[in-house]
Amino acid sequence: MRTVDLIHRKRDGEELDSEEISHLIDDYVRGDVPDYQMSAFLMATYFAGMTDREVSSLTECMIRSGETVDLSSIPGVKVDKHSTGGVGDKTSLIVAPLAAAAGVIVPMVSGRALGHTGGTLDKLESIPGFRTDLTLEQFRAQLGEVGLCFIGQSDELAPADGKLYALRDVTATVESIPLIASSIMSKKLAEGLDALVLDVKVGAGAFMKKQVDARRLAQMMVGIGRRVDKRVQALITDMNQPLGYAVGNALEVMEVSQTLMNQGPADLTRLCLELAARMIHLAKIAPTLEDARHLAENKLVDGSGYRKLKEVIQAQGGNPQALDKFELLPNATGMREIASPRAGYVSAIDAGDVGRASTLMGAGRDRKDDRIDPAVGVILEVKVGEKVDAGAVLCRLYYTSEERVEEAADLVEGAFRVSSQKAEDRALILEVVG
Ligand code: URA
Repeated sequence: MRTVDLIHRKRDGEELDSEEISHLIDDYVRGDVPDYQMSAFLMATYFAGMTDREVSSLTECMIRSGETVDLSSIPGVKVDKHSTGGVGDKTSLIVAPLAAAAGVIVPMVSGRALGHTGGTLDKLESIPGFRTDLTLEQFRAQLGEVGLCFIGQSDELAPADGKLYALRDVTATVESIPLIASSIMSKKLAEGLDALVLDVKVGAGAFMKKQVDARRLAQMMVGIGRRVDKRVQALITDMNQPLGYAVGNALEVMEVSQTLMNQGPADLTRLCLELAARMIHLAKIAPTLEDARHLAENKLVDGSGYRKLKEVIQAQGGNPQALDKFELLPNATGMREIASPRAGYVSAIDAGDVGRASTLMGAGRDRKDDRIDPAVGVILEVKVGEKVDAGAVLCRLYYTSEERVEEAADLVEGAFRVSSQKAEDRALILEVVG
């Protein structure tokens, strides 16, 4: 089997069988297929797509490239939640403790900020002392004791995905539906879960700009799960404007704390409760989705989700007091306000631009090994639909270095649209798949 022939066939839109896909992936992980050939294969896949059979084979190979965690000794149903990536998307830090407080075992393998989107691990690591580099043994032990553990993808879990993602990132092949689906599902299926809730983002701040593409991605991931007997449900949710008000790692942890104290933004709270309810329902802890919604809300209102996050922070070496005393979190040294040029209604806040501005100031990464600045970011003062006066503050930029603030401010200024007419309200949860 010659690698070049497989690239050729994929380029021409033919279907590869599982043996052929294994050849490519296994040899790539071993170093026998060079980056230039894998890059060509990824680009061919970007344009030609993959059939459901191919995408399942690819996912299977990526899972096999590492270990699969066996969580069967831990009683309870294991359910994870994963987002395809957004701006201000701190839902995992809220949803996972709410579900765990309700009795769901939540094995959470999360990602880092890449491009304009944030990553759960970076947000957690802005809490002083918090460690995400646990061994799989420590992961299992914490799940048994606390019911929730956050770790990152390592060389042990789906290493093929780590290697392929790094290559996709520099070859403009991230935004491919089969490649995103296999990347997410390989990590999730390797972590030993029974069921999964997916938050598939769509809009200006998401990989998928069109609902039809988000739906296809959701269907593909639900299908991959179904073929290996895992229950997977996907919500397609709006990512045209940032979620909540805070964008940036420590700033988002502050908003997480407020939300778990039931004082968070309405959109963020609503989405988190729905995602947590879906996890609780899939874990069969509540007989109906409506009961699961009540239980999720109780766990928010009675503070048990908040206490669960503190317990997890303590277990992973962090200082849980950081959730009460924000001065313990990294704080920015400079602040700049962006004012509205006119009176009217906020009709759009481009989440992609806000995310890019935040990345420019250091909250995200251009390359996988870039260091991030946990203190910086953007806090919105308004959301879409709100009325503003001329000169009213639209948002604040928080920074620690002046270097790229000007550029970031220009981007954020351009992200806001203020119109004379109030735009129609846009739904936050657009569709459920699976
Ligand atoms: N998140 C992932 O884990 N993989 C992708 O390809 C895109 C988002």
